[in-house]
Amino acid sequence: MHNENSLYYRDGQLFMDGVSLNAIAERVETPFYCYSSAAITAQIADCQSAFQKLGASIHYAVKANSNLSVLRLMADAGLGADIVSVGELQRALAAGIQPSRIIFSGVGKRRSELLAALQAGIFQFNVESLPELQQLADLCRQQGCTAGVSVRVNPEVDAATHRHITTAIKGSKFGVPLEQLETALDLIVQSEALALHGLAIHLGSQIVDVAPYRKACRRLRNLLNDLRQKGYVITHLDLGGGFGIDYGEGRYLDFHRVADTFHQELQELNVKIAIEPGRSLVGSAGVLVSEVVYRKEVEPLPLLILDAGMNDLMRPALYQAEHRVMPLVESGRPVETCGVVGPICETTDRFLQRTDLPAIQAGERVALLQVGAYGAVMASAYNSRDMIPEVMVSQNRYRLIRRRIPQSDLMAYEMDG
Ligand SMILES: Cc1ncc(COP(=O)(O)O)c(C=O)c1O
Repeated sequence: MHNENSLYYRDGQLFMDGVSLNAIAERVETPFYCYSSAAITAQIADCQSAFQKLGASIHYAVKANSNLSVLRLMADAGLGADIVSVGELQRALAAGIQPSRIIFSGVGKRRSELLAALQAGIFQFNVESLPELQQLADLCRQQGCTAGVSVRVNPEVDAATHRHITTAIKGSKFGVPLEQLETALDLIVQSEALALHGLAIHLGSQIVDVAPYRKACRRLRNLLNDLRQKGYVITHLDLGGGFGIDYGEGRYLDFHRVADTFHQELQELNVKIAIEPGRSLVGSAGVLVSEVVYRKEVEPLPLLILDAGMNDLMRPALYQAEHRVMPLVESGRPVETCGVVGPICETTDRFLQRTDLPAIQAGERVALLQVGAYGAVMASAYNSRDMIPEVMVSQNRYRLIRRRIPQSDLMAYEMDG
Protein backbone atom coordinates (compact mmCIF):
# COMPACT_ATOMS: atom_id res chain seq x y z
CA MET A 1 0.00 0.00 0.00
CA HIS A 2 2.91 2.38 0.54
CA ASN A 3 6.08 3.44 -1.15
CA GLU A 4 8.25 2.37 1.79
CA ASN A 5 9.73 -0.42 -0.32
CA SER A 6 10.59 2.04 -3.06
CA LEU A 7 12.14 4.75 -0.83
CA TYR A 8 15.05 3.96 1.45
CA TYR A 9 18.44 5.21 2.57
CA ARG A 10 21.53 3.49 1.21
CA ASP A 11 24.95 4.67 2.41
CA GLY A 12 23.25 7.74 3.85
CA GLN A 13 21.58 8.75 0.55
CA LEU A 14 17.84 8.60 -0.17
CA PHE A 15 17.14 6.16 -3.00
CA MET A 16 14.07 5.37 -5.04
CA ASP A 17 14.16 1.83 -6.47
CA GLY A 18 17.92 1.69 -6.88
CA VAL A 19 18.44 5.30 -8.00
CA SER A 20 19.82 8.05 -5.77
CA LEU A 21 17.48 11.05 -5.75
CA ASN A 22 20.50 13.33 -5.30
CA ALA A 23 22.04 11.83 -8.44
CA ILE A 24 18.84 12.70 -10.36
CA ALA A 25 18.86 16.20 -8.84
CA GLU A 26 22.39 16.75 -10.17
CA ARG A 27 21.01 16.30 -13.70
CA VAL A 28 17.40 17.48 -13.40
CA GLU A 29 17.20 20.83 -11.71
CA THR A 30 15.00 20.98 -8.59
CA PRO A 31 12.13 21.10 -7.96
CA PHE A 32 10.89 18.01 -9.79
CA TYR A 33 8.39 15.20 -9.31
CA CYS A 34 9.73 11.66 -9.26
CA TYR A 35 7.58 8.52 -9.49
CA SER A 36 8.34 4.85 -8.92
CA SER A 37 6.92 2.71 -11.70
CA ALA A 38 7.32 -0.37 -9.45
CA ALA A 39 5.17 1.25 -6.74
CA ILE A 40 2.45 2.12 -9.26
CA THR A 41 2.46 -1.36 -10.80
CA ALA A 42 2.30 -2.93 -7.34
CA GLN A 43 -0.77 -0.84 -6.50
CA ILE A 44 -2.44 -1.76 -9.79
CA ALA A 45 -1.79 -5.48 -9.12
CA ASP A 46 -3.15 -5.21 -5.56
CA CYS A 47 -6.26 -3.45 -6.81
CA GLN A 48 -6.80 -6.02 -9.55
CA SER A 49 -6.41 -8.95 -7.17
CA ALA A 50 -8.85 -7.39 -4.68
CA PHE A 51 -11.59 -6.65 -7.20
CA GLN A 52 -11.14 -9.79 -9.29
CA LYS A 53 -13.66 -11.77 -7.24
CA LEU A 54 -16.29 -9.15 -8.06
CA GLY A 55 -15.43 -9.33 -11.74
CA ALA A 56 -15.21 -5.53 -11.51
CA SER A 57 -13.74 -3.39 -14.27
CA ILE A 58 -11.16 -0.83 -13.10
CA HIS A 59 -11.17 2.62 -14.71
CA TYR A 60 -8.20 4.71 -13.56
CA ALA A 61 -9.31 8.27 -12.71
CA VAL A 62 -6.98 10.13 -15.06
CA LYS A 63 -7.31 13.40 -13.13
CA ALA A 64 -5.11 12.02 -10.31
CA ASN A 65 -2.03 11.94 -12.55
CA SER A 66 -2.39 12.25 -16.29
CA ASN A 67 1.23 11.98 -17.37
CA LEU A 68 1.35 9.78 -20.49
CA SER A 69 3.96 7.48 -18.94
CA VAL A 70 1.72 6.93 -15.92
CA LEU A 71 -1.26 6.27 -18.21
CA ARG A 72 0.86 3.83 -20.19
CA LEU A 73 1.35 1.75 -17.02
CA MET A 74 -2.43 1.63 -16.62
CA ALA A 75 -2.94 0.68 -20.28
CA ASP A 76 -0.28 -2.04 -20.09
CA ALA A 77 -2.06 -3.54 -17.07
CA GLY A 78 -5.33 -3.62 -19.02
CA LEU A 79 -7.08 -0.90 -17.03
CA GLY A 80 -9.69 1.42 -18.45
CA ALA A 81 -9.97 5.13 -17.74
CA ASP A 82 -12.36 7.51 -16.05
CA ILE A 83 -12.02 10.87 -17.79
CA VAL A 84 -13.48 14.31 -17.14
CA SER A 85 -12.44 16.30 -20.22
CA VAL A 86 -11.57 15.98 -23.88
CA GLY A 87 -7.94 16.57 -22.91
CA GLU A 88 -8.03 13.51 -20.67
CA LEU A 89 -9.71 11.57 -23.50
CA GLN A 90 -6.85 12.48 -25.84
CA ARG A 91 -4.30 11.45 -23.23
CA ALA A 92 -5.99 8.13 -22.44
CA LEU A 93 -6.23 7.24 -26.14
CA ALA A 94 -2.64 8.35 -26.80
CA ALA A 95 -1.47 6.06 -23.99
CA GLY A 96 -3.24 3.10 -25.59
CA ILE A 97 -6.30 2.80 -23.35
CA GLN A 98 -9.12 1.21 -25.35
CA PRO A 99 -12.16 3.46 -25.98
CA SER A 100 -14.32 0.48 -25.00
CA ARG A 101 -12.89 0.87 -21.47
CA ILE A 102 -13.40 4.61 -21.10
CA ILE A 103 -16.03 6.23 -18.89
CA PHE A 104 -16.70 9.98 -19.16
CA SER A 105 -17.58 11.67 -15.83
CA GLY A 106 -18.01 15.34 -14.95
CA VAL A 107 -20.77 17.88 -14.30
CA GLY A 108 -20.06 20.26 -17.16
CA LYS A 109 -19.21 18.28 -20.29
CA ARG A 110 -19.44 20.66 -23.23
CA ARG A 111 -21.20 19.70 -26.45
CA SER A 112 -17.87 19.50 -28.29
CA GLU A 113 -16.50 17.21 -25.60
CA LEU A 114 -19.52 14.90 -25.77
CA LEU A 115 -19.11 14.82 -29.54
CA ALA A 116 -15.40 13.95 -29.35
CA ALA A 117 -16.14 11.12 -26.92
CA LEU A 118 -18.99 9.82 -29.12
CA GLN A 119 -16.72 9.87 -32.14
CA ALA A 120 -14.05 7.98 -30.19
CA GLY A 121 -16.68 5.34 -29.34
CA ILE A 122 -16.24 5.34 -25.57
CA PHE A 123 -17.98 2.77 -23.38
CA GLN A 124 -20.09 4.96 -21.11
CA PHE A 125 -21.16 8.49 -20.28
CA ASN A 126 -21.87 9.08 -16.59
CA VAL A 127 -24.51 11.77 -16.94
CA GLU A 128 -24.92 14.22 -14.08
CA SER A 129 -27.97 16.33 -15.00
CA LEU A 130 -31.17 16.33 -17.05
CA PRO A 131 -29.93 19.03 -19.48
CA GLU A 132 -26.76 17.03 -20.10
CA LEU A 133 -28.86 13.96 -20.87
CA GLN A 134 -30.98 15.96 -23.32
CA GLN A 135 -27.85 17.37 -24.95
CA LEU A 136 -26.35 13.89 -25.36
CA ALA A 137 -29.60 12.46 -26.78
CA ASP A 138 -29.83 15.32 -29.35
CA LEU A 139 -26.22 14.88 -30.35
CA CYS A 140 -26.63 11.13 -30.83
CA ARG A 141 -29.71 11.65 -32.99
CA GLN A 142 -27.86 14.16 -35.17
CA GLN A 143 -24.85 11.91 -35.47
CA GLY A 144 -26.91 8.77 -36.01
CA CYS A 145 -25.16 6.89 -33.22
CA THR A 146 -25.96 5.49 -29.78
CA ALA A 147 -24.32 6.15 -26.41
CA GLY A 148 -24.04 3.92 -23.35
CA VAL A 149 -25.29 5.88 -20.36
CA SER A 150 -25.28 5.56 -16.59
CA VAL A 151 -26.87 8.14 -14.35
CA ARG A 152 -24.58 9.46 -11.65
CA VAL A 153 -26.92 9.74 -8.75
CA ASN A 154 -26.31 11.68 -5.56
CA PRO A 155 -26.86 9.00 -2.88
CA GLU A 156 -26.69 11.58 -0.07
CA VAL A 157 -23.97 9.84 1.92
CA ASP A 158 -21.50 11.94 3.86
CA ALA A 159 -18.05 10.44 3.25
CA ALA A 160 -16.62 12.19 6.34
CA THR A 161 -13.56 13.39 4.45
CA HIS A 162 -12.24 16.95 3.94
CA ARG A 163 -15.20 19.21 3.09
CA HIS A 164 -13.55 20.24 -0.19
CA ILE A 165 -13.51 16.64 -1.41
CA THR A 166 -16.84 15.28 -0.26
CA THR A 167 -19.17 15.00 -3.24
CA ALA A 168 -22.33 13.12 -2.31
CA ILE A 169 -24.12 15.19 0.30
CA LYS A 170 -27.49 16.85 -0.29
CA GLY A 171 -27.10 20.08 -2.23
CA SER A 172 -23.81 18.98 -3.81
CA LYS A 173 -23.25 20.04 -7.42
CA PHE A 174 -22.46 16.43 -8.33
CA GLY A 175 -24.88 13.81 -9.57
CA VAL A 176 -28.60 13.75 -10.31
CA PRO A 177 -30.66 14.34 -7.15
CA LEU A 178 -32.62 11.25 -6.06
CA GLU A 179 -35.95 12.96 -6.76
CA GLN A 180 -34.97 13.48 -10.45
CA LEU A 181 -33.60 9.99 -11.00
CA GLU A 182 -36.68 8.44 -12.56
CA THR A 183 -37.16 11.40 -14.91
CA ALA A 184 -33.56 10.85 -16.04
CA LEU A 185 -34.09 7.12 -16.52
CA ASP A 186 -37.30 7.75 -18.48
CA LEU A 187 -35.46 10.14 -20.79
CA ILE A 188 -32.90 7.42 -21.50
CA VAL A 189 -35.43 4.64 -21.99
CA GLN A 190 -37.52 6.80 -24.34
CA SER A 191 -34.53 7.85 -26.43
CA GLU A 192 -33.56 5.39 -29.14
CA ALA A 193 -30.11 6.92 -29.18
CA LEU A 194 -29.32 6.15 -25.55
CA ALA A 195 -28.63 2.73 -24.07
CA LEU A 196 -29.21 2.50 -20.32
CA HIS A 197 -26.34 0.82 -18.46
CA GLY A 198 -27.20 1.70 -14.88
CA LEU A 199 -26.23 3.92 -11.99
CA ALA A 200 -22.98 5.57 -10.89
CA ILE A 201 -21.86 7.15 -7.64
CA HIS A 202 -18.68 8.79 -6.33
CA LEU A 203 -18.68 9.64 -2.65
CA GLY A 204 -15.57 11.82 -2.46
CA SER A 205 -11.84 11.43 -2.14
CA GLN A 206 -9.34 10.30 0.53
CA ILE A 207 -11.98 8.23 2.33
CA VAL A 208 -10.32 6.06 4.99
CA ASP A 209 -13.30 4.11 6.31
CA VAL A 210 -15.52 1.50 4.62
CA ALA A 211 -18.63 2.72 6.45
CA PRO A 212 -19.68 5.35 3.86
CA TYR A 213 -19.23 2.77 1.07
CA ARG A 214 -21.35 0.25 2.96
CA LYS A 215 -24.05 2.86 3.50
CA ALA A 216 -24.00 3.87 -0.17
CA CYS A 217 -24.16 0.22 -1.30
CA ARG A 218 -27.22 -0.41 0.85
CA ARG A 219 -28.89 2.68 -0.51
CA LEU A 220 -28.05 1.61 -4.07
CA ARG A 221 -29.34 -1.91 -3.42
CA ASN A 222 -32.72 -0.61 -2.25
CA LEU A 223 -32.86 1.85 -5.11
CA LEU A 224 -32.00 -0.78 -7.66
CA ASN A 225 -34.56 -3.27 -6.37
CA ASP A 226 -37.18 -0.56 -6.44
CA LEU A 227 -36.26 0.54 -9.97
CA ARG A 228 -36.23 -3.04 -11.25
CA GLN A 229 -39.70 -3.59 -9.84
CA LYS A 230 -40.81 -0.57 -11.81
CA GLY A 231 -39.43 -2.19 -14.96
CA TYR A 232 -36.11 -0.40 -15.47
CA VAL A 233 -33.36 -2.68 -16.75
CA ILE A 234 -30.21 -1.91 -14.77
CA THR A 235 -27.13 -3.94 -15.65
CA HIS A 236 -24.21 -1.81 -14.42
CA LEU A 237 -23.14 -0.13 -11.17
CA ASP A 238 -20.18 2.26 -11.11
CA LEU A 239 -19.05 2.77 -7.53
CA GLY A 240 -16.49 5.52 -8.20
CA GLY A 241 -13.15 5.95 -6.43
CA GLY A 242 -12.04 7.75 -3.31
CA PHE A 243 -10.01 5.03 -1.59
CA GLY A 244 -7.75 6.87 0.87
CA ILE A 245 -3.97 6.44 1.14
CA ASP A 246 -1.68 6.75 4.15
CA TYR A 247 -0.26 10.28 4.31
CA GLY A 248 1.60 9.37 7.49
CA GLU A 249 -1.16 8.96 10.07
CA GLY A 250 -1.52 5.23 9.41
CA ARG A 251 -5.09 5.62 8.14
CA TYR A 252 -5.93 4.35 4.68
CA LEU A 253 -8.43 2.15 2.91
CA ASP A 254 -7.29 -1.31 1.89
CA PHE A 255 -8.53 -2.41 -1.56
CA HIS A 256 -9.46 -5.83 -0.19
CA ARG A 257 -11.66 -4.34 2.54
CA VAL A 258 -13.52 -2.20 0.02
CA ALA A 259 -13.91 -5.13 -2.38
CA ASP A 260 -15.21 -7.35 0.45
CA THR A 261 -17.74 -4.67 1.41
CA PHE A 262 -18.97 -4.33 -2.17
CA HIS A 263 -19.16 -8.11 -2.44
CA GLN A 264 -21.14 -8.52 0.80
CA GLU A 265 -23.58 -5.77 -0.03
CA LEU A 266 -24.11 -6.21 -3.76
CA GLN A 267 -23.47 -9.83 -4.69
CA GLU A 268 -27.14 -10.77 -5.14
CA LEU A 269 -27.83 -7.96 -7.55
CA ASN A 270 -26.34 -9.57 -10.63
CA VAL A 271 -24.84 -6.36 -11.99
CA LYS A 272 -21.51 -5.58 -13.62
CA ILE A 273 -19.45 -3.47 -11.22
CA ALA A 274 -16.99 -0.73 -12.17
CA ILE A 275 -14.66 1.32 -9.95
CA GLU A 276 -12.72 4.53 -10.62
CA PRO A 277 -9.67 4.66 -8.35
CA GLY A 278 -7.22 7.55 -8.84
CA ARG A 279 -5.20 8.54 -5.79
CA SER A 280 -4.89 4.98 -4.45
CA LEU A 281 -3.03 3.81 -7.59
CA VAL A 282 -0.47 6.60 -7.82
CA GLY A 283 -0.46 8.79 -4.69
CA SER A 284 2.12 6.91 -2.64
CA ALA A 285 4.39 6.37 -5.62
CA GLY A 286 5.63 9.94 -6.02
CA VAL A 287 7.93 12.41 -4.28
CA LEU A 288 8.64 16.07 -4.91
CA VAL A 289 12.36 16.78 -4.72
CA SER A 290 13.24 20.31 -3.68
CA GLU A 291 16.23 22.31 -2.50
CA VAL A 292 16.33 24.48 0.59
CA VAL A 293 16.98 27.98 -0.76
CA TYR A 294 17.35 29.66 2.63
CA ARG A 295 17.20 28.71 6.24
CA LYS A 296 15.55 31.60 8.06
CA GLU A 297 16.22 31.84 11.80
CA VAL A 298 12.99 33.35 13.14
CA GLU A 299 10.69 32.96 16.14
CA PRO A 300 8.99 30.73 17.08
CA LEU A 301 10.62 28.22 14.71
CA PRO A 302 13.37 28.25 12.09
CA LEU A 303 11.93 28.12 8.57
CA LEU A 304 13.20 26.05 5.67
CA ILE A 305 12.34 28.00 2.51
CA LEU A 306 12.14 25.56 -0.39
CA ASP A 307 12.47 26.15 -4.13
CA ALA A 308 9.13 24.27 -4.52
CA GLY A 309 6.00 26.30 -3.92
CA MET A 310 2.24 26.00 -3.74
CA ASN A 311 2.10 26.43 -7.51
CA ASP A 312 4.02 23.13 -7.84
CA LEU A 313 2.08 21.28 -5.12
CA MET A 314 -1.27 22.79 -4.24
CA ARG A 315 -2.63 20.21 -1.81
CA PRO A 316 -1.39 21.88 1.40
CA ALA A 317 -2.86 25.26 0.40
CA LEU A 318 -6.06 23.76 -1.01
CA TYR A 319 -6.88 21.04 1.52
CA GLN A 320 -4.57 21.77 4.48
CA ALA A 321 -2.83 18.54 3.46
CA GLU A 322 0.44 17.60 5.14
CA HIS A 323 3.17 15.82 3.23
CA ARG A 324 6.02 14.40 5.27
CA VAL A 325 9.51 15.59 4.43
CA MET A 326 12.68 13.46 4.25
CA PRO A 327 16.20 14.85 3.76
CA LEU A 328 18.02 13.42 0.73
CA VAL A 329 21.10 12.82 2.90
CA GLU A 330 21.07 11.22 6.33
CA SER A 331 23.16 13.72 8.25
CA GLY A 332 22.92 12.32 11.76
CA ARG A 333 22.44 15.90 12.99
CA PRO A 334 20.23 16.46 16.05
CA VAL A 335 16.50 16.68 15.37
CA GLU A 336 14.96 20.17 15.57
CA THR A 337 11.44 21.51 15.18
CA CYS A 338 11.03 23.76 12.15
CA GLY A 339 8.53 25.03 9.58
CA VAL A 340 8.69 24.22 5.85
CA VAL A 341 7.48 26.87 3.39
CA GLY A 342 7.65 27.76 -0.29
CA PRO A 343 8.87 30.95 -1.99
CA ILE A 344 5.48 32.18 -3.28
CA CYS A 345 4.00 35.49 -2.16
CA GLU A 346 1.04 33.88 -0.40
CA THR A 347 0.61 33.08 3.28
CA THR A 348 -0.88 29.69 2.36
CA ASP A 349 2.37 28.74 0.62
CA ARG A 350 3.37 26.63 3.60
CA PHE A 351 4.00 22.89 3.43
CA LEU A 352 4.37 22.15 7.16
CA GLN A 353 3.55 24.49 10.02
CA ARG A 354 5.85 22.55 12.35
CA THR A 355 7.72 19.32 11.91
CA ASP A 356 10.69 17.51 13.42
CA LEU A 357 13.66 17.04 11.13
CA PRO A 358 17.40 16.60 11.55
CA ALA A 359 18.76 20.18 11.19
CA ILE A 360 18.86 20.98 7.47
CA GLN A 361 21.01 23.74 5.93
CA ALA A 362 20.51 25.90 2.84
CA GLY A 363 21.60 24.13 -0.33
CA GLU A 364 20.54 20.72 0.94
CA ARG A 365 17.69 18.82 -0.64
CA VAL A 366 14.53 17.22 0.68
CA ALA A 367 11.75 14.99 -0.64
CA LEU A 368 8.07 15.64 0.07
CA LEU A 369 6.32 12.29 0.22
CA GLN A 370 3.07 10.85 -1.23
CA VAL A 371 2.65 13.45 -3.95
CA GLY A 372 1.97 11.12 -6.90
CA ALA A 373 -1.73 12.07 -7.01
CA TYR A 374 -3.17 15.57 -7.43
CA GLY A 375 0.39 16.96 -7.46
CA ALA A 376 1.83 17.71 -10.91
CA VAL A 377 -1.66 17.75 -12.48
CA MET A 378 -2.74 20.66 -10.29
CA ALA A 379 0.44 22.69 -10.78
CA SER A 380 0.37 26.17 -12.27
CA ALA A 381 2.90 28.76 -13.38
CA TYR A 382 1.79 31.27 -10.72
CA ASN A 383 4.41 33.92 -9.86
CA SER A 384 5.71 33.36 -13.43
CA ARG A 385 7.52 30.24 -12.42
CA ASP A 386 8.39 27.32 -14.70
CA MET A 387 6.18 24.23 -14.79
CA ILE A 388 8.47 21.70 -13.17
CA PRO A 389 9.68 18.42 -14.69
CA GLU A 390 8.49 14.90 -13.93
CA VAL A 391 10.77 11.88 -13.72
CA MET A 392 9.99 8.13 -13.66
CA VAL A 393 12.26 5.59 -11.99
CA SER A 394 12.01 2.05 -13.25
CA GLN A 395 14.39 -0.92 -13.13
CA ASN A 396 17.24 0.99 -11.50
CA ARG A 397 17.12 3.80 -14.07
CA TYR A 398 15.38 7.12 -14.34
CA ARG A 399 14.01 9.03 -17.29
CA LEU A 400 12.44 12.41 -17.79
CA ILE A 401 8.73 11.92 -18.52
CA ARG A 402 7.88 15.62 -18.79
CA ARG A 403 10.46 18.25 -19.45
CA ARG A 404 10.46 21.59 -17.68
CA ILE A 405 8.12 24.12 -19.35
CA PRO A 406 10.00 27.37 -18.97
CA GLN A 407 8.46 30.83 -18.67
CA SER A 408 10.00 31.71 -22.04
CA ASP A 409 7.75 29.04 -23.68
CA LEU A 410 4.70 30.29 -21.83
CA MET A 411 5.46 33.92 -22.76
CA ALA A 412 5.56 32.87 -26.41
CA TYR A 413 1.77 32.38 -26.25
CA GLU A 414 1.23 36.01 -25.28
CA MET A 415 0.68 38.95 -27.66
CA ASP A 416 2.91 41.82 -26.65
CA GLY A 417 1.40 45.17 -27.72
C1 LIG B 1 -16.15 10.87 -10.66
C2 LIG B 1 -14.85 10.58 -10.00
N1 LIG B 1 -14.38 9.33 -10.04
C3 LIG B 1 -13.19 9.01 -9.47
C4 LIG B 1 -12.41 9.96 -8.83
C5 LIG B 1 -11.12 9.54 -8.23
O1 LIG B 1 -11.04 9.73 -6.86
P1 LIG B 1 -9.77 9.24 -6.06
O2 LIG B 1 -8.58 9.82 -6.71
O3 LIG B 1 -9.97 9.76 -4.70
O4 LIG B 1 -9.77 7.74 -6.13
C6 LIG B 1 -12.88 11.27 -8.74
C7 LIG B 1 -12.10 12.28 -8.02
O5 LIG B 1 -12.52 13.27 -7.55
C8 LIG B 1 -14.13 11.60 -9.35
O6 LIG B 1 -14.61 12.84 -9.32
